[in-house]
Amino acid sequence: ENSSQPPTEHVGPDYRPAMQKPTATVSTSLSHSNVTILPSTPQLLSLLTMIRDKNTGRADFIFYSNRIIRLLVEEGLNHLPVVKHEVTTPVGRVYSGVKFEGKICGVSIMRAGESMEQGLRECCRSVRIGKILIQRDEETAKPKLYYDKLPEDIADRWVLLLDPMLATGGSALMAVDVLISRGVPEDRILFLNLIASPEGAANFAERFPKVRVVTAFVDQGLDEKNYIVPGLGDFGDRFYTM
Ligand code: PRP
Ligand code: URA
Repeated sequence: ENSSQPPTEHVGPDYRPAMQKPTATVSTSLSHSNVTILPSTPQLLSLLTMIRDKNTGRADFIFYSNRIIRLLVEEGLNHLPVVKHEVTTPVGRVYSGVKFEGKICGVSIMRAGESMEQGLRECCRSVRIGKILIQRDEETAKPKLYYDKLPEDIADRWVLLLDPMLATGGSALMAVDVLISRGVPEDRILFLNLIASPEGAANFAERFPKVRVVTAFVDQGLDEKNYIVPGLGDFGDRFYTM
């Protein structure tokens, strides 16, 4: 287990003096340029506090997770390319704007990644979604690939890969291997993730430096069972069955 002290900061609106703001644990920073960590805003930290609490029941866990997932999807979309697009407004003026270029699809790593599909659909209405079933062995934490079903033309699409937890990184690495084997170029994959461990994020970023990662928070490390600490426990269990 990584025993380094977690980074803390005063949190709250800028107009308040530091002494009136509580301190909270903020995300560990990483030096990999392909990893974007959402800013540790008061809103994000309060949402994460809710889902980390072991006393938060399933309905609230789903509600607050969905709010963070929405923030991740909105930020993730900022990493897709746009082209110039001019429109004429109802008052006859031209607005010089942009629109997204290229086709996208989502790919969820089952089961927990499926929780992120709704957030993606809310932003990209009829988005195609592929599935990859990877499960970690409970004893060894090694991932095993059971199944995949992906859009036929996935090699021509930008892929938003969905999994809320990046622990050792084994599952995400395996999923990217599957995407690359289907012809998806590494630099067209965007991995959306709620909580990462520093070692998992570093492993992933080093092995696939062209895959962009957008995560809400990098935690302190892993425990002896390769759970993220402080983490939130088993995401899939809390979202689907607890
Ligand atoms: C969890 C999680 C990730 C994986 C992360 O899934 O959703 O897919 O573990 O761990 P890793 O980075 O060490 O591979 P799990 O296999 O427990 O299945 P679940 O989604 O059905 O809960
Ligand atoms: N999967 C989870 O759901 N939680 C962890 O902490 C690690 C893997």
